[in-house]
Amino acid sequence: MTPITRPGLVHAGDVEREARRLFERIAQPDRWDLEMCRVIAPMTLEIQALKKQRNAVVLAHSYQTPDIVYGAADFVGDSYGLSLKARDTKADLIVFSSVRFMAETAKIVNPQKKVVIPEPTAGCSLADGVTAAQVRAYRRAHPDAAIVAYVNTSAEVKALSDVCVTSANYLEICRRLPESKIVFLPDRYMGAHLRARLPEKEVIVHDAACVVHEAFRPETAREWRASVEAQGRRLHILAHPECAPNVLAEADFVGSSEAMMEYARKLEADGQADVLPVTECGTADRMRAELPNVRVVGACSECPFMKQTDLRSVLEALRAPRPDQEIRLAPDIARGAKRALDRMFELTRPAAS
Ligand code: 13P
Ligand code: SF4
Repeated sequence: MTPITRPGLVHAGDVEREARRLFERIAQPDRWDLEMCRVIAPMTLEIQALKKQRNAVVLAHSYQTPDIVYGAADFVGDSYGLSLKARDTKADLIVFSSVRFMAETAKIVNPQKKVVIPEPTAGCSLADGVTAAQVRAYRRAHPDAAIVAYVNTSAEVKALSDVCVTSANYLEICRRLPESKIVFLPDRYMGAHLRARLPEKEVIVHDAACVVHEAFRPETAREWRASVEAQGRRLHILAHPECAPNVLAEADFVGSSEAMMEYARKLEADGQADVLPVTECGTADRMRAELPNVRVVGACSECPFMKQTDLRSVLEALRAPRPDQEIRLAPDIARGAKRALDRMFELTRPAAS
């Protein structure tokens, strides 16, 4: 990787200090050694300087790479936490380091701000799995149902839905809705989990899936549990609700990417713990960097869409965003989608402080 720097912008001593700061945070023998941190340090320093100059904030999903998470981001979290930060920020410019539907969500909840996405083609198999025409067909077929759209959907689909949800609040919101019938889209596995946890309501589920979470197998989780237990220890299996039901059945905890971090943080507070995070690799990377007493077990899977973004594209988006990096939405779609997202905020209980 060639570092993109501006001559004279940073001093050698600053670069070395920044490289060591990054190394202390993200050291991984196979990937993030001190030499690599020296390569990226001029970029992270320039990003930090540009954020001040432009009154910009960098929001990054947990599935972004550690150089972005610890070198560029002002806030890292799950899709719900990020949508709150985007809604409430005082910055003029939001650089959203993630996939497109999350950057669109930021623009919808805070339309006055300029929102840029470093990699504008970064999609999502769930967001691509349902169209506006299909939502209209559900509405015609089930006029008495609430149409509930997972946030992993296009702005157009959100605009046609009654309420949005994320992996942090779908159970709570669907329970609170007055309708006894729900059309849940697009994730068939999250929808199946909802149906099992909400037997008092009729739940009709669309048929799309996350290519990353769908690939996990229950046998793998069982084998890891047996291996750790053979050493006399307990394995805590944490799974994202986009996993298949037979995988969720093996889990000690099911929750959003940030809820998994919180769960592991609580385990660590009680001493050393073995954790298998059944989700995208970014969560395992964060656990390794932030929770030294959590032993991360097992292999993870990388989301090819999330991993389209690299530190270089974040820097370029801050230096001089290209027109295709700016999120622009048709006003009627943005208005409709905002109504569904505002309803999500209204129906989500504020986190206990
Ligand atoms: P979170 O809501 O947990 O951030 O999940 C978003 C996502 O895309 C998971 O694959
Ligand atoms: Fe979409 Fe799955 Fe990637 Fe999340 S991990 S962005 S749901 S494809």
